[in-house]
Order: sequence, then structure tokens, then C-alpha cells
Amino acid sequence: MNKEIWFESWFDTNFYHELYKNRDEDEANIFIENLINKLELDPCSEVLDLACGKGRHALKMSNYFQKVTGIDLSKNSINIAKKFNKENLKFLTGDMRNFSLNKKFDFIFNLFTSFGYFENFNDNSLVLDNCNKHLKKNGLIVIDYLNPEKVINNLVKNEIKIVNKTKYTISRKIENNFIIKDIYINQKNKEKHFYEKVQLINLKMFSEILKKSNFTINKTFGNYNLEEYNENSNRLIITALKNN
Ligand SMILES: C[S@@+](CC[C@H](N)C(=O)[O-])C[C@H]1O[C@@H](n2cnc3c(N)ncnc32)[C@H](O)[C@@H]1O
Repeated sequence: MNKEIWFESWFDTNFYHELYKNRDEDEANIFIENLINKLELDPCSEVLDLACGKGRHALKMSNYFQKVTGIDLSKNSINIAKKFNKENLKFLTGDMRNFSLNKKFDFIFNLFTSFGYFENFNDNSLVLDNCNKHLKKNGLIVIDYLNPEKVINNLVKNEIKIVNKTKYTISRKIENNFIIKDIYINQKNKEKHFYEKVQLINLKMFSEILKKSNFTINKTFGNYNLEEYNENSNRLIITALKNN
């Protein structure tokens, strides 16, 4: 596995989906419903779920918004998402840094830590610039990220999980401001190794890169019930408006 582009291989495996299977449609339904209500989002909107995975949030969005597009790098995830087969719901493969669609959206969602994967910090700005380019005037981006302070203060260094008879031995460390997860998988006595590496981008850093890409943060939340963000919150959820 190429460690620099770990996200191309790991997210495309069934192991990833198994390990994170508690991150399910129920969780997505609650979060999207709360966002719609709290932010009073207009149902007559076209929205993009960027790095949509198997489309659990996009599906919920499609019950409310006029048109929903989901984009993800993982072909396997997109193939699964396409099975929802709804008229107002479309899925495409693409890289968040350089996808190019001939349309602009009212809202772009980037959910469940689908950011901060790149070795080169400037790649994060490619993502945000590309989001800006795909947003209408007064468009809004919602980023649901890990809370770096909470990760640092509560690091579980070693963990073993058994999911469907498969053993996942996970070790975590912080290095150069990235949280690095080594995941050793033992299935039928065969060992596989995967890797997750996510940058610990805090609110101040987000505020700087968002500003650079012509966005202004307007709200922050700390969990999927959209309670206040603080250093102990489970999540760092940011909404930012495109500057016109
Ligand atoms: C943690 S998962 C979250 C998936 C989905 N948002 C969810 O909540 O179920 C991160 C997703 O980002 C996608 N991804 C990783 N790098 C990407 C890139 N460069 N461009 C687009 N998607 C990417 C992965 O394939 C994966 O589906």
C-alpha cells in the first residue's frame, strides 16, 4: 500500500465498511434532519455530498432537497450507492481536489471526517477552492470533522475489535500533527495491513484555509445534535458561507 495515498485503497475495501458499520443510516438521518432544521435549509435546493461514501447522508438529503449529487473517490462505494436508484439522486466517482461538474450547488456537505487526508497541506485548499467554484452565490459549505483537541486528549493507543469473525488490531499515534491509525486485519489467518492518516486541523486552521478560499465561517457545532462546540466535543462541525 502506498502510504501517501492510503485513502485510495482503504476506503475502497469491505473491511473499512465493516469496521465502521455503526456509522449507519440512522446516524446520518438524525444529523441531516438536525442540519436542515437548525440551518433552515430551503428544500428547493441542489446539494452536493462530497466524499459521500455509500451515500447514507445523500439518501436522506434526497427525501428533502430537490436534487442531490454524491461524489466519492471509491468506485466500490459509488457502485453500492447507485443502487438507491432515485430520480433526484445521482452518484459519481471523482476526486474532491479536482472534480469538475458543469453546475453550481446551493449547499456542499463534507461529512464524517472526509477531509485532511493529504500529505501536502495545500491540497486542502484545492478542495475548498473547488467547492467555492461549485457553489452558487450565497452558497454554504458544511464540514463535519473530528475534534482535534478531543482526539489528542483521549487517544486510545491500542484497541482490538472483532467484527463478523474478523479481528482488527488497531494502534493509534500522533505524528507531525496527523492522527495515524495502523489497522492490522486477521481474517481466516491471513493478515492484511491498512493505514489511516488524518491531519489534526483545528478551528483556527480551518478558519485560515476557509478564508483563503473565500469563505467565512458562520456557525460551529460540537455533535450531531448540533450542540455547542468546545474542546471536549465529539465533533468539530463548521458551516461557512461563500463570500460573494
Ligand atoms: C470517512 S469516509 C466518509 C464517507 C461518508 N461521508 C460517510 O459519512 O459515510 C471518507 C470518504 O472520503 C472518500 N475520499 C477519500 N479521498 C477522497 C478524495 N480525494 N476525493 C473524493 N473522495 C475521497 C473515501 O472514499 C470515503 O468514502
